[in-house]
Amino acid sequence: MGRVGAVSEHDHYFTAQPASADERRVLRVHLAGRDLEVETAGGVFSPDHVDLGTRVLLEHAAPAPAAGDLLDLGCGWGPIALTLALASPGARVWAVDVNERALDLVRRNAERVGATNLTAARPDDVPDAIRFSAIWSNPPIRVGKAALHELLLRWLPRLADGAHAQLVVGKNLGADSLQRWLAAELPVTVERTASAKGFRVLRVS
Ligand SMILES: C[S@@+](CC[C@H](N)C(=O)[O-])C[C@H]1O[C@@H](n2cnc3c(N)ncnc32)[C@H](O)[C@@H]1O
Repeated sequence: MGRVGAVSEHDHYFTAQPASADERRVLRVHLAGRDLEVETAGGVFSPDHVDLGTRVLLEHAAPAPAAGDLLDLGCGWGPIALTLALASPGARVWAVDVNERALDLVRRNAERVGATNLTAARPDDVPDAIRFSAIWSNPPIRVGKAALHELLLRWLPRLADGAHAQLVVGKNLGADSLQRWLAAELPVTVERTASAKGFRVLRVS
């Protein structure tokens, strides 16, 4: 991995340790019906605002279960995981990412907003036995098709019986082909439950 400048071409938000300066900033956001202050930093996805795709997911997703283990796959600084944790205080929310700066931020943000039911973890640190009552994700399309497919094949089979995953994907980032691929590759039904602002919400059952 290159570490040549403040922002190298390899300093994607999906590296374990981003090279860009870890300058923390406070962001005011509205999540789970509340006005909150959260911490973000360079080197994580969408540090200056809640990403538009993420907002589409949060506005259009069917409510999460009140209990059980819920997964935010690729949590970044945590807009989805924090929403799940605040909206379902009786559930345990797993905020999973490969980016350690993102994990530190989501941990601190959970503390800031009093979400004691959120656990931030690297993918390998989530116990294998856990089955999820819901998976919500704005998945990392930029990792490339093969890595994205591998990611989805790793986590979607861990849905509990009868549970759903809700994914938001840009129309021009391959939402429709991803929908077809998922339905062909896994024993699941994939429905498009919303289409707004250039994004699709896919519900995988
Ligand atoms: C599109 S961003 C969404 C971030 C956050 N959920 C949001 O809505 O702002 C996708 C996230 O997936 C993470 N990611 C990339 N590869 C991953 C992997 N193999 N396992 C878990 N997370 C991954 C990235 O680091 C990034 O934070």
